[in-house]
Amino acid sequence: MGYSVTKIIAITGKGGTGKTAVAALLIRYLCKNKEFLLAVDADADTNLPETLGCEVEHTIGDAKEFLQEIATNPRPEHPDTNKESLLQSKIYEIIEEMPCYDLLVMGRPEGAGCYCYVNNLLRGIMDKLVQNYDFVVMDTEAGLEHFSRKIVRDIDSLLVVTDASRRGFRTAERIRELVAELEVNIKEVHVLANKVTDANQGKIEKLAGDLGLELIGMVPLDPKVEELDIGGIPLSKLPDDSIAAEEVAKIAKKLGL
Ligand SMILES: Nc1ncnc2c1ncn2[C@@H]1O[C@H](COP(=O)(O)OP(=O)(O)O)[C@@H](O)[C@H]1O
Ligand SMILES: [Mg+2]
Repeated sequence: MGYSVTKIIAITGKGGTGKTAVAALLIRYLCKNKEFLLAVDADADTNLPETLGCEVEHTIGDAKEFLQEIATNPRPEHPDTNKESLLQSKIYEIIEEMPCYDLLVMGRPEGAGCYCYVNNLLRGIMDKLVQNYDFVVMDTEAGLEHFSRKIVRDIDSLLVVTDASRRGFRTAERIRELVAELEVNIKEVHVLANKVTDANQGKIEKLAGDLGLELIGMVPLDPKVEELDIGGIPLSKLPDDSIAAEEVAKIAKKLGL
């Protein structure tokens, strides 16, 4: 494998706007281009594996809990173990390897107490881990709090998903304003409208215009996505002529992916 620089893409926005669906469609697009990628489900309400059609048993949350336990109550069976290599081997163990992507799930939020030590170890491990991939696609939760519990230091593109609702746009605007204050270094922020229909397209354009938000794309409300969702079938089964998949492919090209 030649020299490559990892591109990290994170997806955020109000709950229910389609973050996980967009993440899954982006992963599907990158897989088609045979890129080597890491998918990260950074939402405690783990939905990405099911949407991708992949089962995950263990999470980063479990690994952190294990380390926290050892760090706070040293036990005779773990005398002076190197905690960083212990956590690293745990993280490598829980990576789910799929034919065209690896998947890592954050899982449960941390318990009470200070996890600073474990989180610092984790960041160091993630910094090294992401370098093994061409792309990292992170599906995140609705709020922005998780960006302070950052597991990656740099994000190349932050994709903010909104639907036609005013609240979706408000969240997008708030995120755009917050980006400057975050400790995470975010190179680009793009807003993407999802579930666009002939009926709501005008409203979406007006809301975006009023807020001075430029939209990188408008992903249509796709009856095929709805059909799979109702049947509990993963988006990996979406046919190639899906209108949502086609628009996500265009957006990926605009982002230079
Ligand atoms: N472009 C789309 N067309 C049709 N349904 C969609 C589309 N995007 C998302 N959905 C549906 O909207 C619901 C919420 O999507 P989801 O990705 O889980 O949102 P989030 O991750 O932001 O909470 C799901 O039922 C999903 O199938
Ligand atoms: Mg989600």
